[in-house]
Amino acid sequence: MSMIDSMEKFEKRIKRVLVSEEQIREAVKQTGKEISDSYDGQPILLVSILKGAFVFMADLCREITVPCEIGFMCAKSYYNGTVSTGIVKITMDIEQDISKYHVVIVEDIIDTGRTLNDVVKMLKSRNPLSLRVITLLDKPERRLVEFNPDKALFTIPDYFVVGYGLDCGEYYRNLPYIAEYNEEEI
Ligand code: IMP
Ligand code: MG
Repeated sequence: MSMIDSMEKFEKRIKRVLVSEEQIREAVKQTGKEISDSYDGQPILLVSILKGAFVFMADLCREITVPCEIGFMCAKSYYNGTVSTGIVKITMDIEQDISKYHVVIVEDIIDTGRTLNDVVKMLKSRNPLSLRVITLLDKPERRLVEFNPDKALFTIPDYFVVGYGLDCGEYYRNLPYIAEYNEEEI
């Protein structure tokens, strides 16, 4: 396959824009204001689980007008077939002692809910002052464990999406909008 062919296919995979740059900007700005208002004067730690949420985190933290700290972690959940073993392995941890912070988890998307369910349990066991989960996208139809975020900026149907940090095979994270991905043969 020539380079041109593969570039064409690469672009054809983007079916349509599901959430535009403008819509994201507005919702992120509003969320930044809400965080600034509700935690003013208190120690805040924003925590993202890499890699998907890196773009959302970068934009959201710049809409927060009060002092806050930022942390990143990498997590891997272990499953016995399709059943979560409840074991979440942290391959990279935040360095802060979270018992001194109001923790806000900044996530890209909640799908089955397994990853965040495990991560939240683990972080709660470290006794943060409080813990809140904010996700850019929520796909409630796909849930396999009962888990609800405190805030979802956009609730979407059961589509596979890419862009604004979200990938398919590590590509498309750099798209500035959220797009529906075409999984069919092209
Ligand atoms: P879950 O909620 O434990 O199933 O896992 C959520 C993770 O799966 C997210 O953090 C994403 O990395 C990935 N994921 C789920 N749905 C999508 C999607 O539509 N596009 C890209 N990644 C997704
Ligand atoms: Mg992710």
